[in-house]
Amino acid sequence: MSNHASLLKSASVLVVEDNEFTSRLIATILRRIGVGTVYEASSALSAFNILNLSPVSLIVCDLEMEPMGGLTFVTLLRSGRLPEGMTANGRLDTGIPVAILTAHTAPDIVKRARDAGATAFLTKPINPALLQKRLTALLCEGTRHPSPDNEFLRVVFRSEVAPGVTKEHIKSIMAASQAKNPARNISSVLCFNTTHFLEILEGPHRVVDALYTKILTDTRHRNVQTVIKEGVESRLCDGWSMVFLGNEPSMIDLYRCYCGCDHFAPDGMEASHIMEFLTKVVARFRKS
Ligand SMILES: Cc1cc2nc3c(=O)[nH]c(=O)nc-3n(C[C@H](O)[C@H](O)[C@H](O)COP(=O)(O)O)c2cc1C
Repeated sequence: MSNHASLLKSASVLVVEDNEFTSRLIATILRRIGVGTVYEASSALSAFNILNLSPVSLIVCDLEMEPMGGLTFVTLLRSGRLPEGMTANGRLDTGIPVAILTAHTAPDIVKRARDAGATAFLTKPINPALLQKRLTALLCEGTRHPSPDNEFLRVVFRSEVAPGVTKEHIKSIMAASQAKNPARNISSVLCFNTTHFLEILEGPHRVVDALYTKILTDTRHRNVQTVIKEGVESRLCDGWSMVFLGNEPSMIDLYRCYCGCDHFAPDGMEASHIMEFLTKVVARFRKS
């Protein structure tokens, strides 16, 4: 048996496609080129069930699926997280190459998918001969999604609300973060009150770095102090949230313990205790 043939025979490919006809067609092509194991999942959720149980060498994933589309699927996979409610059976392999199957070749869609962690693009409608060639190449080249030593960059900063900043300014920060962070695979928690900000950003090194460079020059805050900038294996938080830390009685014990006063004052916090504070804030807001 040739080298290629034995590579293909030992490969397992997961097809994530909600259109039964397309899924069957791709599965048939995969078997025709000699792929040993082909799994078919009709949704991103059932794909995670398969990934949670079986090793997979390549994923071919449709872009438009309900309720979870291909972009969210890749973002979750690269972050090593399983969908809510699913219990991990082992460590999820975040480096599996993902070929996105799409009829959309608009540059912004391709860029968004690449940023999310897609490895390759296969175009619809399917051209069997071309698809056969691309899939063989992907499987035989042993392409993996790069995984740096520390998967994520964590940045924590504190700053003062700039004079003249209004509720409208805060709303526009909120809108930018809410719209952009999840799409860039950045998890974040922005804590603030009328005088201070404290934010944690976690995600792929390059994207967190680029966002933080932008935030540093934002005139809606001043005296920005980087408290933590380090590579980490896992994230403190999932998704995006913004937390107004006013004078709720339920939070006063945390302020007394970490800020040394009765209100949120990150400037007075020991840098070494900030992660502990954020962990407790996240836990309390998750519960409520
Ligand atoms: C305290 C503070 C926190 C911010 N956090 C975020 C954030 O998490 N995500 C984000 O996209 N922008 C955030 N911004 C806004 C960015 O500085 C920037 O205005 C925004 O990303 C829009 O940039 P763009 O239009 O050039 O993409 C924050 C700004 C401030 C002052």
